[in-house]
Amino acid sequence: MAMPLGGILLLFLVLLAAAAAGGGGGVWAFSSSSSSSSYSRIGEQPLSLIGIHRATVGIDAAASVQASPRLLGVKGEDTAWVTVDFAAPHASDGDWIGVFSPSNFNASTCPGPSGSDSGPVICSAPIKYQLANYSSDYGKTGKGTLKFQLINQRQDFSFALFTGGLSNPKLIAVSNKIAFANPKAPVYPRLAQGKSWNEMTVTWTSGYDIKEAYPFVEWGMKWSPPTRTAAGTITFDRESLCGEPARTVGWRDPGFIHTAFLTDLWPNKEYYYKIGHMLPDGKIVWGKFYSFKAPPFPGQKSLQRVVIFGDMGKAERDGSNEYSNYQPGSLNTTDTLIKDLDNIDIVFHIGDITYANGYISQWDQFTQQVEPITARVPYMIASGNHERDWPNSGSFFNGTDSGGECGVLAETMYYTPTENRANYWYKTDYGMFRFCVADSEHDWREGTEQYAFIESCLATVDRKKQPWLVFIAHRVLGYSSGFFYGAGGAFAEPTARQSLQRLWQRHRVDLAFYGHVHNYERTCPVYDGRCASPERSRYSGAVGGTIHAVVGGGGSHLSNFTAEAPPWSVYREMDYGFVKLTAFNYTSLLYEYRRSSDGEVHDSFTVHREYRDVLACVADSCPPTIPPAT
Ligand SMILES: *[C@@H]1O[C@H](CO)[C@@H](O)[C@H](O)[C@H]1NC(C)=O
Ligand SMILES: *[C@@H]1O[C@H](CO)[C@@H](O)[C@H](O)[C@H]1NC(C)=O
Ligand SMILES: *[C@@H]1O[C@H](CO)[C@@H](O)[C@H](O)[C@H]1NC(C)=O
Ligand SMILES: *[C@@H]1O[C@H](CO)[C@@H](O)[C@H](O)[C@H]1NC(C)=O
Ligand SMILES: *[C@@H]1O[C@H](CO)[C@@H](O)[C@H](O)[C@H]1NC(C)=O
Ligand SMILES: *[C@@H]1O[C@H](CO)[C@@H](O)[C@H](O)[C@H]1NC(C)=O
Ligand SMILES: [Fe+2]
Repeated sequence: MAMPLGGILLLFLVLLAAAAAGGGGGVWAFSSSSSSSSYSRIGEQPLSLIGIHRATVGIDAAASVQASPRLLGVKGEDTAWVTVDFAAPHASDGDWIGVFSPSNFNASTCPGPSGSDSGPVICSAPIKYQLANYSSDYGKTGKGTLKFQLINQRQDFSFALFTGGLSNPKLIAVSNKIAFANPKAPVYPRLAQGKSWNEMTVTWTSGYDIKEAYPFVEWGMKWSPPTRTAAGTITFDRESLCGEPARTVGWRDPGFIHTAFLTDLWPNKEYYYKIGHMLPDGKIVWGKFYSFKAPPFPGQKSLQRVVIFGDMGKAERDGSNEYSNYQPGSLNTTDTLIKDLDNIDIVFHIGDITYANGYISQWDQFTQQVEPITARVPYMIASGNHERDWPNSGSFFNGTDSGGECGVLAETMYYTPTENRANYWYKTDYGMFRFCVADSEHDWREGTEQYAFIESCLATVDRKKQPWLVFIAHRVLGYSSGFFYGAGGAFAEPTARQSLQRLWQRHRVDLAFYGHVHNYERTCPVYDGRCASPERSRYSGAVGGTIHAVVGGGGSHLSNFTAEAPPWSVYREMDYGFVKLTAFNYTSLLYEYRRSSDGEVHDSFTVHREYRDVLACVADSCPPTIPPAT
C-alpha cells in the first residue's frame, strides 16, 4: 500500500536515522507491546490518557491504515462517517487508532510539554481515538475496520495506528489524508441573548480570517426582505492560554469566531437567519438556514419555558474515546432537549460546558453536538471550574480543572451579556423572568465587585412585571447534600451561604440553581438552614425562603449523596436530568425535573403567588420599620 506521508515520512526518516546513530534519550525507550495503561478512569478527559509526547516511531511496512471516502461533505454536510481499514503484523489489545487534524502532525508544528529533554516526536493529541480491538476479530486476523464520525473543523484528517497502549504509544502506520470539501465553511451557530432584551447574538466558527472574507448574518422576519448585519471576529493564540495541556499537546488552532448582533427585534416574533462569508470576488459561502423566536420584552405576559442544567460535557456518537465513559449522560440530555425543542424558549447551561480540560479540539465537537439546540434558542452559559480554574490566573479557586484554558475558550466560543468577559457574571431578562447569573469561579463575598453585581441584579427588578427571580451559579453557593459537600460539613461551598443568603432573602429570590455536583436535588423554601414551609408540591403566599436546586446531572459521571438527607432536602435523585420552568403568567409557575433518559417528569411543584406576597415581610426580608430610639 502506498502511504502518502509527505512531511511526516521525512520527519520519521530523520528521527530513525538519529536513533540508529544511538541518539535520543528517554523518548526512544518505548516498552514493546505492554498495555498497562488504565483505560477510562472515571472523570478524566480520555485524551489525557494518551502519552502522545512519549510516542515513538517505528513505521512498519507490514502495517497499514486506509480511510475513505477522501472527500467529505460534498453536499455541504458538516459531519461525515468515515471507514478506516487497518492491518498490523502483530495485533494486540494495546493497539489503537488516533485521528489527527491537521493531518500533518509532525512535531515541528508545535512545542512539546516542558521538561522533556530531547523533545517529543509528536506533540499534538489526536482529536479522538478508538481501540483497534473494537473491531471484532482484530486480535485473531490482524485486520480491522472502524467507523469514525468526523465533523468539519477547519483542517484535514489522517488516521494513525499505534501499538503499545495509550500511555506508551508507538506509531506504526499513517493513513491517506481526507478532508471536507470546504474545511473553512461557517459552522455550528449559537444564539445568545444580547445585553438588552431585544437583541439576539449569533456566534459561529469558521476558517475565514476577516482579511479573507467578510462575515455577516442575513436575517429578517418571515415574509419581509432580509437585512445583512456584519459580524465581529475574534480568535486567540497559544500564548493567551495559561498552561498545559492547552498550550502544548491539547492546543489546536481555534479558527475564527464570529458574532453578529441582531438588534431591535419584535418581541416573540419569528425570525429566520443564515450565516455567511463574502469572498473578495463577491461570491458568498453560506451556512445553513435557521429560525428563532425573538425574546419577549421584560414583563411581557406570554408562555415562557426555560431549561436549566449544568455539567453536560460532550460524548462521541461513534463510540470513540472509550465509549463516552467521560460524560455518559451527555447525548441523552442533548437528544431529549432536541426532541422537545418546540416547547423550549431559552436554555441555561450553568458551567462545566465541554470538559475539554485543555484539549481545544473538543470545543468544536461540543458546539457541533449542541448545534440543533443553540441554532434555534438562546443558549446561555455560566462559567465553571472546568472552564476557568487555573493557579495564579485570577480564579478564586486554585485548581487546574480548566487544563490551562483559564476561561479563554468559554469566553471566546460563546457570547454572554457580561460587562467584562473575564468576569462571567451577568443579568438577563426573559419576559416574566429575571436571571442573575453569578460566576462561582470569582470571589462573591461581601465587598467584592461580584457581590455588588448580585445585589444590584436582584434589587433592580420590577417584581410586579417580572415576578420570577432566579439566581444561578456553577458551584453550590446554597445547599447540596452531595457526598462531597456533606463531607465538608457546610453542605455548600464554605462561607458562600453566609455571604449571600441575606441578599436572596431580602430580595425574595424564588429559585436558585447550581451545577458542579452531578445529581439532582431540590430543597424546601429555605432560609438559614430552616424550611419556611413544610409544603412540598404547591407553594403559595409569602416568599419565606428560596428553593435551591442542584441540576448538575447534565451528563458527567454521577455523584452520590450523604447517607442521610438533611431536613431541608426535599427530593434527591442520582440520575441524569434537567429542570424546566414554565411561567404561565404573573402568578403561576410550574417547575419540573425531567430525566434525560426518557424526558419524563420525576419531580415537580407549582408556585401561585400574588405581587403582595412578594412585598410581605418574612424573616429578615424587610428592614426594621421602627426607627431606632434616639
Ligand atoms: C513538518 O510539517 C511542517 C508543516 O507542514 C513542514 O514544513 C515540515 O517540513 C515538516 N517537518 C518534517 C521534519 O517533516
Ligand atoms: C481491548 O483492549 C483493551 C485495552 O487493552 C482491553 O481492556 C479490552 O478488554 C479489549 N477488548 C476486547 C473486546 O478484547
Ligand atoms: C487561591 O490563591 C490565591 C493566591 O494565592 C489566594 O488568595 C486565594 O485565597 C486562593 N483561593 C482559595 C479558594 O483558596
Ligand atoms: C459516596 O461515594 C464516596 C466516594 O466514592 C464513598 O466514600 C461514600 O461511601 C459514598 N456514600 C454513599 C452514601 O454511598
Ligand atoms: C395563570 O395561569 C394559570 C395556569 O395556566 C391559570 O390557572 C391562572 O388562571 C392564570 N392566572 C391569571 C391571572 O391569568
Ligand atoms: C440513555 O437513554 C437510554 C434510553 O432511555 C437509556 O436506556 C440509557 O440508560 C441512558 N443512558 C444513561 C447513561 O443514562
Ligand atoms: Fe464543576
